[in-house]
Amino acid sequence: MATQTDFLVIGSGMAGLIYALKVAEHGKVIILSKTSLVETATSYAQGGIAAVMYSPDSYEKHISDTIKAGAGLNDEEIVRLTITESAERIKELIEWGTNFDKEKSGKYSLAKEGGHSEFRVLHHKDNTGFEIQRALSEKAKKHPNINVLENYFSIDLITQHHLGEDLNRVNGKLECYGAYVLNNKKNKIETFLARKTMVAAGGMGNIYQTTTNPIIATGDGIAMAYRAKADVEKLEFVQFHPTSLYNPGEKPSFLITEAMRGAGAVLKTKKGEEFMHKYHKLKSLAPRDIVARAIDNEMKISGDEFVYLDPSAISETEIMNHFPTIYAKCLKIGIDITKDLIPVVPAAHYSCGGIKTDEYGRTSIKNLYASGEVASTGLHGANRLASNSLLEAAVFSNRAAEDAISDFKNISIENEIPNWDSEGTVHNEEMILITQSRKELQSIMSNYVGIVRSNIRLKRAHDRLAIIYKETEELYDKSIISEEICELRNMINVAYLIIKMANKRKESIGLHYSIDYE
Ligand code: FAD
Ligand code: SIN
Repeated sequence: MATQTDFLVIGSGMAGLIYALKVAEHGKVIILSKTSLVETATSYAQGGIAAVMYSPDSYEKHISDTIKAGAGLNDEEIVRLTITESAERIKELIEWGTNFDKEKSGKYSLAKEGGHSEFRVLHHKDNTGFEIQRALSEKAKKHPNINVLENYFSIDLITQHHLGEDLNRVNGKLECYGAYVLNNKKNKIETFLARKTMVAAGGMGNIYQTTTNPIIATGDGIAMAYRAKADVEKLEFVQFHPTSLYNPGEKPSFLITEAMRGAGAVLKTKKGEEFMHKYHKLKSLAPRDIVARAIDNEMKISGDEFVYLDPSAISETEIMNHFPTIYAKCLKIGIDITKDLIPVVPAAHYSCGGIKTDEYGRTSIKNLYASGEVASTGLHGANRLASNSLLEAAVFSNRAAEDAISDFKNISIENEIPNWDSEGTVHNEEMILITQSRKELQSIMSNYVGIVRSNIRLKRAHDRLAIIYKETEELYDKSIISEEICELRNMINVAYLIIKMANKRKESIGLHYSIDYE
Protein backbone atom coordinates (compact mmCIF):
# COMPACT_ATOMS: atom_id res chain seq x y z
CA MET A 1 0.00 0.00 0.00
CA ALA A 2 1.31 3.40 -0.93
CA THR A 3 1.59 6.19 1.65
CA GLN A 4 -0.26 9.33 0.60
CA THR A 5 0.36 12.90 1.71
CA ASP A 6 -0.26 16.43 0.50
CA PHE A 7 3.40 17.43 0.56
CA LEU A 8 6.42 15.16 0.30
CA VAL A 9 9.75 16.74 1.26
CA ILE A 10 13.00 14.92 0.45
CA GLY A 11 15.57 16.38 2.85
CA SER A 12 15.58 17.72 6.40
CA GLY A 13 18.14 20.53 6.14
CA MET A 14 17.30 24.21 6.14
CA ALA A 15 15.66 24.12 2.69
CA GLY A 16 13.43 21.14 3.48
CA LEU A 17 12.42 22.30 6.95
CA ILE A 18 11.51 25.87 6.03
CA TYR A 19 9.33 24.66 3.16
CA ALA A 20 7.78 21.98 5.38
CA LEU A 21 6.97 24.40 8.21
CA LYS A 22 5.20 26.73 5.78
CA VAL A 23 3.14 24.17 3.86
CA ALA A 24 2.25 22.33 7.08
CA GLU A 25 -0.10 25.21 7.92
CA HIS A 26 -2.25 24.00 5.01
CA GLY A 27 -1.90 20.23 4.69
CA LYS A 28 -0.16 17.02 5.74
CA VAL A 29 3.61 16.82 5.29
CA ILE A 30 6.10 13.95 5.23
CA ILE A 31 9.79 14.79 5.50
CA LEU A 32 12.31 12.12 4.50
CA SER A 33 15.86 12.05 5.82
CA LYS A 34 18.34 9.45 4.62
CA THR A 35 19.99 9.34 8.06
CA SER A 36 18.87 11.45 11.01
CA LEU A 37 16.87 14.67 11.02
CA VAL A 38 19.93 16.74 11.95
CA GLU A 39 22.69 15.08 9.89
CA THR A 40 22.69 17.74 7.18
CA ALA A 41 25.16 20.18 5.63
CA THR A 42 23.06 22.85 7.31
CA SER A 43 24.21 21.61 10.72
CA TYR A 44 27.86 22.04 9.68
CA ALA A 45 27.57 25.64 8.45
CA GLN A 46 29.95 27.84 10.37
CA GLY A 47 30.32 31.38 9.06
CA GLY A 48 26.69 32.42 8.88
CA ILE A 49 23.98 33.82 6.69
CA ALA A 50 24.39 36.95 4.59
CA ALA A 51 21.75 39.68 4.78
CA VAL A 52 21.58 43.45 4.49
CA MET A 53 20.85 44.65 8.01
CA TYR A 54 22.17 48.16 8.65
CA SER A 55 23.68 51.09 6.76
CA PRO A 56 26.27 51.69 5.36
CA ASP A 57 25.37 48.33 3.79
CA SER A 58 22.73 48.39 1.06
CA TYR A 59 20.90 45.99 -1.24
CA GLU A 60 22.86 47.39 -4.18
CA LYS A 61 26.21 46.58 -2.51
CA HIS A 62 25.18 43.01 -1.71
CA ILE A 63 23.81 42.58 -5.25
CA SER A 64 27.01 43.91 -6.75
CA ASP A 65 29.23 41.64 -4.55
CA THR A 66 27.13 38.59 -5.49
CA ILE A 67 27.41 39.30 -9.20
CA LYS A 68 31.12 40.10 -9.00
CA ALA A 69 31.81 36.82 -7.20
CA GLY A 70 29.63 34.96 -9.73
CA ALA A 71 31.62 36.47 -12.64
CA GLY A 72 28.41 37.90 -14.07
CA LEU A 73 26.86 34.52 -14.88
CA ASN A 74 24.17 35.18 -12.26
CA ASP A 75 20.55 35.85 -13.12
CA GLU A 76 20.26 39.48 -12.03
CA GLU A 77 16.53 39.34 -11.31
CA ILE A 78 17.03 36.33 -9.04
CA VAL A 79 19.94 38.02 -7.26
CA ARG A 80 17.82 41.12 -6.70
CA LEU A 81 14.81 39.32 -5.30
CA THR A 82 16.94 37.08 -3.06
CA ILE A 83 18.73 40.01 -1.51
CA THR A 84 15.72 42.28 -1.14
CA GLU A 85 13.90 39.48 0.69
CA SER A 86 16.87 38.73 2.98
CA ALA A 87 15.88 40.80 6.03
CA GLU A 88 12.33 39.38 6.01
CA ARG A 89 13.63 35.80 6.03
CA ILE A 90 16.11 36.56 8.84
CA LYS A 91 13.29 38.06 10.89
CA GLU A 92 11.33 34.85 10.44
CA LEU A 93 14.27 32.64 11.45
CA ILE A 94 14.60 34.71 14.63
CA GLU A 95 10.86 34.49 15.34
CA TRP A 96 11.15 30.71 14.92
CA GLY A 97 13.78 30.57 17.65
CA THR A 98 17.19 31.01 15.98
CA ASN A 99 19.71 32.95 18.06
CA PHE A 100 22.22 35.15 16.28
CA ASP A 101 25.06 36.87 18.17
CA LYS A 102 24.56 40.49 19.20
CA GLU A 103 26.84 43.41 20.08
CA LYS A 104 26.63 45.10 23.45
CA SER A 105 24.54 47.82 21.76
CA GLY A 106 21.82 45.25 20.99
CA LYS A 107 22.53 45.31 17.25
CA TYR A 108 23.28 42.02 15.54
CA SER A 109 26.99 41.29 15.26
CA LEU A 110 27.95 41.05 11.59
CA ALA A 111 31.01 39.29 10.18
CA LYS A 112 32.81 39.75 6.88
CA GLU A 113 33.82 36.98 4.48
CA GLY A 114 35.59 36.71 1.13
CA GLY A 115 34.13 38.89 -1.64
CA HIS A 116 31.86 40.92 0.69
CA SER A 117 32.41 44.68 0.65
CA GLU A 118 30.60 45.12 3.99
CA PHE A 119 30.14 43.33 7.29
CA ARG A 120 26.83 41.53 6.67
CA VAL A 121 27.09 37.92 7.86
CA LEU A 122 24.80 37.10 10.78
CA HIS A 123 26.22 34.30 12.85
CA HIS A 124 25.92 32.26 15.99
CA LYS A 125 29.55 31.96 17.11
CA ASP A 126 31.18 29.60 14.59
CA ASN A 127 28.30 27.11 14.52
CA THR A 128 25.53 29.10 12.86
CA GLY A 129 24.13 26.17 10.88
CA PHE A 130 23.86 23.99 13.96
CA GLU A 131 21.82 26.72 15.66
CA ILE A 132 19.50 27.15 12.64
CA GLN A 133 19.04 23.38 12.32
CA ARG A 134 18.26 23.14 16.05
CA ALA A 135 15.58 25.81 15.92
CA LEU A 136 13.92 24.49 12.77
CA SER A 137 14.10 20.83 13.84
CA GLU A 138 12.50 21.59 17.21
CA LYS A 139 9.66 23.43 15.51
CA ALA A 140 9.14 20.70 12.89
CA LYS A 141 9.08 17.92 15.53
CA LYS A 142 6.31 19.72 17.39
CA HIS A 143 4.14 20.45 14.35
CA PRO A 144 1.03 18.24 14.27
CA ASN A 145 0.95 18.14 10.45
CA ILE A 146 4.60 17.11 10.03
CA ASN A 147 5.82 13.52 10.09
CA VAL A 148 9.61 13.16 9.96
CA LEU A 149 10.81 9.77 8.67
CA GLU A 150 14.47 9.09 9.43
CA ASN A 151 16.55 6.47 7.60
CA TYR A 152 14.29 6.67 4.56
CA PHE A 153 16.39 6.84 1.40
CA SER A 154 14.63 8.25 -1.64
CA ILE A 155 15.61 6.24 -4.72
CA ASP A 156 13.68 7.74 -7.62
CA LEU A 157 11.03 10.32 -8.36
CA ILE A 158 7.77 8.95 -9.76
CA THR A 159 6.57 10.35 -13.08
CA GLN A 160 4.56 9.15 -16.10
CA HIS A 161 7.49 6.79 -16.74
CA HIS A 162 6.16 4.60 -13.94
CA LEU A 163 2.74 4.50 -15.63
CA GLY A 164 4.50 2.94 -18.60
CA GLU A 165 4.70 6.10 -20.72
CA ASP A 166 7.75 7.03 -22.78
CA LEU A 167 9.21 10.12 -21.08
CA ASN A 168 10.59 11.46 -24.35
CA ARG A 169 7.05 11.59 -25.71
CA VAL A 170 5.54 13.34 -22.66
CA ASN A 171 8.35 15.88 -22.55
CA GLY A 172 7.10 19.31 -21.60
CA LYS A 173 4.15 17.79 -19.76
CA LEU A 174 6.07 15.77 -17.21
CA GLU A 175 4.48 15.53 -13.76
CA CYS A 176 5.82 14.28 -10.45
CA TYR A 177 3.62 12.00 -8.34
CA GLY A 178 5.99 11.29 -5.43
CA ALA A 179 8.95 8.97 -4.89
CA TYR A 180 10.05 5.37 -4.39
CA VAL A 181 11.82 5.21 -1.06
CA LEU A 182 13.98 2.60 0.67
CA ASN A 183 12.89 2.16 4.27
CA ASN A 184 16.29 1.28 5.70
CA LYS A 185 14.92 -0.05 8.99
CA LYS A 186 12.70 -2.62 7.24
CA ASN A 187 14.85 -3.02 4.14
CA LYS A 188 11.77 -2.47 2.02
CA ILE A 189 10.99 -0.15 -0.90
CA GLU A 190 7.87 1.89 -0.23
CA THR A 191 5.81 4.11 -2.52
CA PHE A 192 5.10 7.68 -1.37
CA LEU A 193 2.47 9.58 -3.36
CA ALA A 194 2.00 13.32 -2.97
CA ARG A 195 0.26 16.26 -4.54
CA LYS A 196 3.50 18.24 -4.36
CA THR A 197 7.08 16.97 -4.04
CA MET A 198 10.02 19.07 -2.88
CA VAL A 199 13.61 17.93 -3.49
CA ALA A 200 15.83 19.50 -0.82
CA ALA A 201 18.47 16.78 -0.79
CA GLY A 202 21.56 19.02 -0.54
CA GLY A 203 24.90 18.77 -2.34
CA MET A 204 27.37 16.22 -3.69
CA GLY A 205 30.80 16.95 -2.15
CA ASN A 206 31.46 13.25 -1.55
CA ILE A 207 32.18 12.67 -5.22
CA TYR A 208 35.60 14.14 -4.28
CA GLN A 209 38.23 12.58 -2.00
CA THR A 210 38.42 15.63 0.25
CA THR A 211 35.27 17.48 1.17
CA THR A 212 33.79 19.55 3.97
CA ASN A 213 30.40 17.95 3.25
CA PRO A 214 28.81 15.38 5.58
CA ILE A 215 28.33 11.80 4.39
CA ILE A 216 24.80 12.47 3.20
CA ALA A 217 26.02 14.70 0.35
CA THR A 218 26.17 12.25 -2.55
CA GLY A 219 24.19 14.15 -5.18
CA ASP A 220 21.06 11.99 -4.82
CA GLY A 221 18.63 14.84 -5.50
CA ILE A 222 20.34 16.01 -8.68
CA ALA A 223 20.69 12.45 -9.97
CA MET A 224 17.06 11.57 -9.21
CA ALA A 225 15.82 14.70 -10.96
CA TYR A 226 18.10 14.12 -13.94
CA ARG A 227 16.87 10.54 -14.35
CA ALA A 228 13.30 11.86 -14.21
CA LYS A 229 14.30 14.24 -17.05
CA ALA A 230 14.17 17.50 -15.10
CA ASP A 231 16.43 20.27 -16.41
CA VAL A 232 19.76 20.47 -14.59
CA GLU A 233 22.45 23.09 -15.19
CA LYS A 234 25.74 24.77 -14.21
CA LEU A 235 27.17 21.68 -12.55
CA GLU A 236 30.67 22.50 -13.78
CA PHE A 237 30.81 25.14 -11.01
CA VAL A 238 31.97 23.12 -8.03
CA GLN A 239 33.17 25.35 -5.22
CA PHE A 240 36.29 24.36 -3.26
CA HIS A 241 36.54 26.03 0.12
CA PRO A 242 40.08 27.40 0.47
CA THR A 243 40.58 26.55 4.12
CA SER A 244 39.73 23.14 5.48
CA LEU A 245 41.90 21.85 8.31
CA TYR A 246 44.80 19.72 7.05
CA ASN A 247 44.30 16.56 9.07
CA PRO A 248 44.90 13.58 6.76
CA GLY A 249 42.33 10.79 7.01
CA GLU A 250 39.62 12.88 8.66
CA LYS A 251 36.24 12.71 6.86
CA PRO A 252 34.53 15.07 6.38
CA SER A 253 37.32 17.64 6.42
CA PHE A 254 36.84 20.13 9.22
CA LEU A 255 36.18 23.65 7.98
CA ILE A 256 38.10 26.70 9.14
CA THR A 257 35.55 29.41 8.48
CA GLU A 258 36.26 32.27 6.13
CA ALA A 259 35.03 34.53 8.93
CA MET A 260 38.47 34.01 10.51
CA ARG A 261 40.00 35.75 7.51
CA GLY A 262 37.26 38.38 7.87
CA ALA A 263 38.46 38.90 11.44
CA GLY A 264 42.09 39.35 10.34
CA ALA A 265 43.68 35.90 9.78
CA VAL A 266 46.00 35.73 6.75
CA LEU A 267 47.26 32.97 4.51
CA LYS A 268 50.98 32.13 4.49
CA THR A 269 53.17 29.52 2.85
CA LYS A 270 54.77 26.80 4.95
CA LYS A 271 57.85 29.08 5.02
CA GLY A 272 55.71 31.77 6.67
CA GLU A 273 55.46 34.13 3.68
CA GLU A 274 52.23 35.89 2.69
CA PHE A 275 51.26 35.22 -0.94
CA MET A 276 47.71 36.40 -1.62
CA HIS A 277 48.86 39.90 -2.72
CA LYS A 278 50.20 38.19 -5.88
CA TYR A 279 46.69 37.04 -6.84
CA HIS A 280 44.11 39.69 -5.84
CA LYS A 281 43.86 43.15 -4.30
CA LEU A 282 41.59 41.80 -1.55
CA LYS A 283 44.41 39.39 -0.60
CA SER A 284 43.21 36.69 1.83
CA LEU A 285 39.64 38.02 1.52
CA ALA A 286 39.42 37.66 -2.27
CA PRO A 287 36.49 35.62 -3.64
CA ARG A 288 36.71 31.93 -2.89
CA ASP A 289 37.55 30.66 -6.39
CA ILE A 290 40.60 32.94 -6.52
CA VAL A 291 41.85 32.03 -3.02
CA ALA A 292 41.42 28.27 -3.60
CA ARG A 293 43.28 28.46 -6.90
CA ALA A 294 46.05 30.56 -5.36
CA ILE A 295 46.56 28.00 -2.57
CA ASP A 296 46.51 25.16 -5.10
CA ASN A 297 49.16 26.99 -7.13
CA GLU A 298 51.36 27.73 -4.10
CA MET A 299 51.19 24.08 -3.02
CA LYS A 300 52.16 22.97 -6.53
CA ILE A 301 55.11 25.41 -6.64
CA SER A 302 56.44 24.42 -3.21
CA GLY A 303 55.43 20.75 -3.19
CA ASP A 304 53.94 21.28 0.27
CA GLU A 305 50.76 19.46 1.31
CA PHE A 306 49.23 22.53 2.94
CA VAL A 307 49.56 26.26 3.54
CA TYR A 308 49.06 28.07 6.84
CA LEU A 309 46.34 30.32 8.12
CA ASP A 310 47.89 32.75 10.58
CA PRO A 311 45.24 33.86 13.11
CA SER A 312 47.61 35.95 15.26
CA ALA A 313 45.85 39.23 14.34
CA ILE A 314 42.69 37.99 16.10
CA SER A 315 42.65 38.65 19.84
CA GLU A 316 42.34 35.75 22.26
CA THR A 317 39.00 37.15 23.48
CA GLU A 318 37.64 37.29 19.92
CA ILE A 319 38.82 33.71 19.30
CA MET A 320 37.09 32.46 22.44
CA ASN A 321 33.88 34.40 21.76
CA HIS A 322 33.51 33.98 18.03
CA PHE A 323 35.45 30.81 17.17
CA PRO A 324 35.10 28.44 20.15
CA THR A 325 34.32 25.35 18.02
CA ILE A 326 37.40 25.83 15.86
CA TYR A 327 39.53 26.53 18.94
CA ALA A 328 38.36 23.32 20.64
CA LYS A 329 38.70 21.19 17.51
CA CYS A 330 42.25 22.38 16.75
CA LEU A 331 43.32 21.99 20.37
CA LYS A 332 42.25 18.34 20.22
CA ILE A 333 44.87 17.70 17.54
CA GLY A 334 47.55 19.74 19.28
CA ILE A 335 47.10 23.15 17.64
CA ASP A 336 46.44 26.09 19.96
CA ILE A 337 45.03 28.74 17.61
CA THR A 338 45.69 31.53 20.11
CA LYS A 339 49.40 30.85 19.48
CA ASP A 340 49.88 28.51 16.52
CA LEU A 341 49.41 28.66 12.76
CA ILE A 342 46.64 26.45 11.32
CA PRO A 343 47.56 24.09 8.42
CA VAL A 344 44.85 24.33 5.74
CA VAL A 345 44.02 22.90 2.31
CA PRO A 346 41.16 23.47 -0.14
CA ALA A 347 38.30 20.92 -0.08
CA ALA A 348 35.19 20.37 -2.23
CA HIS A 349 32.50 22.38 -0.53
CA TYR A 350 29.48 23.45 -2.54
CA SER A 351 27.64 22.80 -5.79
CA CYS A 352 26.64 26.07 -7.45
CA GLY A 353 24.65 24.26 -10.13
CA GLY A 354 21.86 21.76 -9.76
CA ILE A 355 18.20 21.30 -10.65
CA LYS A 356 17.11 24.33 -12.63
CA THR A 357 14.34 26.27 -10.93
CA ASP A 358 12.41 29.47 -11.51
CA GLU A 359 11.71 32.26 -9.01
CA TYR A 360 9.26 30.04 -7.12
CA GLY A 361 11.54 27.02 -6.86
CA ARG A 362 9.56 25.27 -9.61
CA THR A 363 11.48 22.74 -11.69
CA SER A 364 10.75 21.83 -15.30
CA ILE A 365 8.54 18.98 -13.98
CA LYS A 366 5.04 19.90 -12.82
CA ASN A 367 4.42 19.69 -9.05
CA LEU A 368 8.12 19.16 -8.40
CA TYR A 369 10.09 21.86 -6.57
CA ALA A 370 13.75 22.08 -5.64
CA SER A 371 15.41 24.29 -3.03
CA GLY A 372 18.72 24.67 -1.24
CA GLU A 373 22.03 23.37 -2.50
CA VAL A 374 20.37 20.86 -4.84
CA ALA A 375 18.83 23.70 -6.86
CA SER A 376 20.21 26.08 -9.44
CA THR A 377 18.19 29.27 -9.03
CA GLY A 378 20.58 31.57 -10.88
CA LEU A 379 21.76 33.31 -7.69
CA HIS A 380 25.37 32.14 -7.67
CA GLY A 381 26.49 32.36 -11.28
CA ALA A 382 29.97 30.89 -11.75
CA ASN A 383 30.95 31.12 -8.07
CA ARG A 384 28.90 31.48 -4.88
CA LEU A 385 29.53 34.44 -2.60
CA ALA A 386 30.21 33.18 0.94
CA SER A 387 27.16 32.77 3.18
CA ASN A 388 24.70 33.25 0.34
CA SER A 389 23.56 29.62 0.32
CA LEU A 390 21.71 29.56 3.63
CA LEU A 391 20.04 32.76 2.45
CA GLU A 392 19.09 31.18 -0.87
CA ALA A 393 17.54 28.18 0.91
CA ALA A 394 15.44 30.48 3.11
CA VAL A 395 14.21 32.67 0.26
CA PHE A 396 13.36 29.93 -2.23
CA SER A 397 11.81 27.50 0.24
CA ASN A 398 9.51 30.31 1.31
CA ARG A 399 8.64 31.12 -2.31
CA ALA A 400 8.14 27.45 -3.24
CA ALA A 401 5.82 27.03 -0.28
CA GLU A 402 3.72 30.02 -1.37
CA ASP A 403 3.40 28.52 -4.82
CA ALA A 404 2.65 24.99 -3.61
CA ILE A 405 -0.02 26.21 -1.17
CA SER A 406 -1.77 28.18 -3.91
CA ASP A 407 -2.94 25.17 -5.93
CA PHE A 408 -2.22 21.87 -4.17
CA LYS A 409 -5.89 21.26 -3.43
CA ASN A 410 -6.64 21.14 -7.17
CA ILE A 411 -4.19 18.26 -7.67
CA SER A 412 -5.41 14.71 -7.23
CA ILE A 413 -3.08 11.99 -6.01
CA GLU A 414 -2.19 9.51 -8.77
CA ASN A 415 -3.50 6.10 -7.72
CA GLU A 416 -2.33 3.92 -10.59
CA ILE A 417 1.36 3.84 -9.62
CA PRO A 418 2.68 0.27 -9.37
CA ASN A 419 4.85 -0.84 -6.47
CA TRP A 420 8.62 -1.08 -7.02
CA ASP A 421 9.49 -4.15 -9.06
CA SER A 422 12.36 -6.17 -7.51
CA GLU A 423 11.85 -9.28 -9.63
CA GLY A 424 15.01 -11.08 -10.73
CA THR A 425 17.33 -9.32 -8.28
CA VAL A 426 19.52 -10.98 -5.68
CA HIS A 427 21.49 -9.86 -2.63
CA ASN A 428 24.80 -8.39 -3.66
CA GLU A 429 27.49 -10.23 -1.71
CA GLU A 430 30.28 -8.21 -3.32
CA MET A 431 30.31 -4.97 -1.30
CA ILE A 432 33.94 -4.51 -2.29
CA LEU A 433 32.83 -3.81 -5.87
CA ILE A 434 30.78 -0.86 -4.65
CA THR A 435 33.29 0.53 -2.15
CA GLN A 436 36.15 0.22 -4.63
CA SER A 437 34.21 1.91 -7.44
CA ARG A 438 33.31 4.75 -5.07
CA LYS A 439 36.99 5.27 -4.27
CA GLU A 440 37.93 5.16 -7.96
CA LEU A 441 35.26 7.73 -8.75
CA GLN A 442 36.51 10.05 -6.01
CA SER A 443 40.07 9.69 -7.26
CA ILE A 444 39.04 10.46 -10.88
CA MET A 445 37.12 13.56 -9.85
CA SER A 446 39.85 14.85 -7.54
CA ASN A 447 42.69 14.29 -9.99
CA TYR A 448 41.07 15.42 -13.24
CA VAL A 449 37.98 17.50 -12.45
CA GLY A 450 39.16 19.56 -9.47
CA ILE A 451 40.23 23.18 -9.02
CA VAL A 452 42.31 23.24 -12.22
CA ARG A 453 41.11 21.37 -15.32
CA SER A 454 42.11 20.83 -18.94
CA ASN A 455 40.53 19.21 -21.99
CA ILE A 456 42.77 16.17 -21.73
CA ARG A 457 42.07 15.71 -18.00
CA LEU A 458 38.34 15.91 -18.66
CA LYS A 459 38.59 13.37 -21.45
CA ARG A 460 40.51 11.00 -19.23
CA ALA A 461 37.94 11.45 -16.46
CA HIS A 462 35.12 10.75 -18.90
CA ASP A 463 36.76 7.59 -20.27
CA ARG A 464 37.58 6.21 -16.81
CA LEU A 465 34.10 7.01 -15.55
CA ALA A 466 32.48 5.21 -18.49
CA ILE A 467 33.98 1.93 -17.24
CA ILE A 468 32.69 2.39 -13.69
CA TYR A 469 29.31 3.49 -15.05
CA LYS A 470 28.90 0.32 -17.11
CA GLU A 471 29.96 -1.96 -14.26
CA THR A 472 27.67 -0.20 -11.80
CA GLU A 473 24.60 -0.30 -14.06
CA GLU A 474 25.11 -4.04 -14.53
CA LEU A 475 25.39 -4.52 -10.78
CA TYR A 476 22.36 -2.28 -10.10
CA ASP A 477 20.16 -4.18 -12.55
CA LYS A 478 20.71 -7.50 -10.86
CA SER A 479 21.11 -6.46 -7.18
CA ILE A 480 18.49 -6.07 -4.52
CA ILE A 481 18.45 -2.32 -3.94
CA SER A 482 20.74 -1.04 -1.19
CA GLU A 483 21.58 2.51 -0.19
CA GLU A 484 25.22 1.90 -1.14
CA ILE A 485 24.52 0.93 -4.75
CA CYS A 486 22.01 3.78 -5.15
CA GLU A 487 24.48 6.33 -3.80
CA LEU A 488 27.24 5.06 -6.07
CA ARG A 489 24.91 5.28 -9.07
CA ASN A 490 23.90 8.82 -8.11
CA MET A 491 27.51 9.90 -7.62
CA ILE A 492 28.40 8.53 -11.05
CA ASN A 493 25.42 10.33 -12.63
CA VAL A 494 26.43 13.64 -11.07
CA ALA A 495 30.13 13.21 -11.89
CA TYR A 496 29.19 12.49 -15.48
CA LEU A 497 27.09 15.66 -15.63
CA ILE A 498 29.90 17.77 -14.17
CA ILE A 499 32.36 16.44 -16.75
CA LYS A 500 29.88 16.92 -19.58
CA MET A 501 29.11 20.52 -18.60
CA ALA A 502 32.79 21.30 -17.95
CA ASN A 503 33.62 19.99 -21.42
CA LYS A 504 31.02 22.21 -23.00
CA ARG A 505 32.32 25.38 -21.36
CA LYS A 506 35.11 26.59 -23.61
CA GLU A 507 36.41 29.32 -21.29
CA SER A 508 37.84 29.78 -17.81
CA ILE A 509 35.27 31.52 -15.67
CA GLY A 510 34.58 31.51 -11.94
CA LEU A 511 35.00 28.03 -10.53
CA HIS A 512 35.60 26.42 -13.90
CA TYR A 513 39.27 27.00 -14.59
CA SER A 514 40.93 25.25 -17.54
CA ILE A 515 44.57 25.62 -18.55
CA ASP A 516 43.38 25.35 -22.16
CA TYR A 517 41.51 28.67 -21.86
CA GLU A 518 43.84 30.80 -19.72
P1 FAD B 1 21.31 19.87 3.61
O1 FAD B 1 21.32 20.72 4.80
O2 FAD B 1 22.57 19.20 3.23
O3 FAD B 1 20.19 18.74 3.82
C1 FAD B 1 20.08 17.69 2.88
C2 FAD B 1 19.03 16.72 3.36
O4 FAD B 1 18.68 15.83 2.30
C3 FAD B 1 19.46 15.83 4.52
O5 FAD B 1 18.40 15.74 5.44
C4 FAD B 1 19.65 14.45 3.87
O6 FAD B 1 19.40 13.36 4.73
C5 FAD B 1 18.60 14.52 2.78
N1 FAD B 1 18.85 13.60 1.68
C6 FAD B 1 19.84 13.61 0.77
N2 FAD B 1 19.69 12.60 -0.10
C7 FAD B 1 18.57 11.93 0.27
C8 FAD B 1 17.89 10.78 -0.21
N3 FAD B 1 18.34 10.08 -1.26
N4 FAD B 1 16.77 10.38 0.43
C9 FAD B 1 16.30 11.04 1.53
N5 FAD B 1 16.90 12.14 2.02
C10 FAD B 1 18.02 12.57 1.40
N6 FAD B 1 26.52 28.15 3.65
C11 FAD B 1 26.30 29.40 4.10
O7 FAD B 1 25.47 30.14 3.54
N7 FAD B 1 26.98 29.85 5.19
C12 FAD B 1 27.89 29.10 5.86
O8 FAD B 1 28.46 29.54 6.85
C13 FAD B 1 28.15 27.79 5.37
N8 FAD B 1 29.09 27.02 5.96
C14 FAD B 1 29.24 25.73 5.55
C15 FAD B 1 30.13 24.91 6.22
C16 FAD B 1 30.24 23.57 5.86
C17 FAD B 1 31.21 22.69 6.59
C18 FAD B 1 29.47 23.07 4.79
C19 FAD B 1 29.55 21.62 4.39
C20 FAD B 1 28.60 23.89 4.09
C21 FAD B 1 28.48 25.23 4.47
N9 FAD B 1 27.61 26.07 3.79
C22 FAD B 1 27.41 27.35 4.25
C23 FAD B 1 26.74 25.56 2.75
C24 FAD B 1 25.36 25.25 3.35
O9 FAD B 1 25.53 24.72 4.65
C25 FAD B 1 24.57 24.27 2.53
O10 FAD B 1 24.60 24.63 1.18
C26 FAD B 1 23.12 24.27 3.00
O11 FAD B 1 23.05 24.01 4.38
C27 FAD B 1 22.34 23.21 2.25
O12 FAD B 1 21.09 23.08 2.86
P2 FAD B 1 20.06 22.08 2.22
O13 FAD B 1 18.84 22.13 3.06
O14 FAD B 1 19.93 22.35 0.77
O15 FAD B 1 20.78 20.65 2.34
C1 SIN C 1 32.58 29.52 5.93
O1 SIN C 1 32.19 29.69 7.08
O2 SIN C 1 33.69 29.85 5.53
C2 SIN C 1 31.65 28.89 4.97
C3 SIN C 1 30.74 29.90 4.44
C4 SIN C 1 30.04 29.40 3.23
O3 SIN C 1 30.31 28.32 2.72
O4 SIN C 1 29.18 30.16 2.76
